[in-house]
Amino acid sequence: MDNADNLRGDLICAIAAAESTNALEAVRVSALGKKGTITKLMKTLGSMDPDERKLEGQEINALKAEVCIAIDERKVALEGAELDARLMAEQVDISLPVRPRSKGCVHPISQVIEEMTVIFCEMGFTVAEGPDIEEDWYNFTALNIPPEHPARQEHDTFYLPGKKNGDRKVLRTHTSPVQIHTMQEKEPPIRIIVPGRTYRCDYDATHSPMFHQVEGLVIDENTHMGHLKGCLIEFCRAMFQVDDLPVRFRPSYFPFTEPSAEVDIGCTRADGEFRIGHGDDWLEILGCGMVNPKVLENCGIDSTKYQGFAFGMGVERIAMLKYGIPDLRTFFESDLRWLKHYGFSALDVPGMVGGVNR
Ligand code: DAH
Repeated sequence: MDNADNLRGDLICAIAAAESTNALEAVRVSALGKKGTITKLMKTLGSMDPDERKLEGQEINALKAEVCIAIDERKVALEGAELDARLMAEQVDISLPVRPRSKGCVHPISQVIEEMTVIFCEMGFTVAEGPDIEEDWYNFTALNIPPEHPARQEHDTFYLPGKKNGDRKVLRTHTSPVQIHTMQEKEPPIRIIVPGRTYRCDYDATHSPMFHQVEGLVIDENTHMGHLKGCLIEFCRAMFQVDDLPVRFRPSYFPFTEPSAEVDIGCTRADGEFRIGHGDDWLEILGCGMVNPKVLENCGIDSTKYQGFAFGMGVERIAMLKYGIPDLRTFFESDLRWLKHYGFSALDVPGMVGGVNR
């Protein structure tokens, strides 16, 4: 009995003196663990006679229950204190200065595609996409460029390994094949633009083997050349931010449009300075035309009911003109100093309201 009473006093003192949950756990193990003092006491019961065992047993069980309660209470108190201490230590100092401005910025190609998208979406176009690896038929034949057509030579095509017949795959040489995919998949009216990567086997200051185009396609029952002109004049003026920018449509030839035109915008090259706007010179920026009825028929669209226009332009060329970037190759050199100079803030999203070239 004295044993249990002494133990009670010692344990209650040790529990109260434990300063941390770890110290408390050590006390618990010393009393209730396999070799703990209370456990040892329990083991003495086995050698007692039944009456004594009953008495002692009750006593030890009461001691055990009391110690358990004391440990639990102390544990709650210590955990609370430890949480308070941690919360105090982890306080966020809101007086710290903000992080320096992010170093990343938007590449001029992404920026110009975004600007074009904003302008055309405002006019009611949606964005479509297609694969970079194309079947010969989509890239050429369906666009009225049959095998042996001279236009195929002009494209400097990258062919993928495979059979040298109509089944061979190519890296698309323009975004025009997405016109075909779209017309096969959708009923008119169609009004899409297609930004994307294109590939030609050519490399110098004005050509890169991978470059970007934005294609446009409008198909409806009564779409005519007036719509084409209005749409593209509006686009050029919004893109270059010159309200009365002179825009000229010059007759041209593309197999997939009839009639076809190239669009020039006004510029000056006076005194060695190049400027877009009024002047005595012209600069070509895109190709366009009324979709050739043969192309419509190749996609299963009734050319006696539907007609439309298409256009295509090079993104790098427009970026160079708009932002005064002199060499095409620098777009793809991944030079961070160049990007810092010509890049755009990620938070200045182009918009028709705030301006497309913020
Ligand atoms: N696909 C032509 C090229 O890469 C550009 C083009 C011209 C696209 C006229 C068109 C178009 O849709 O109507 O040179």
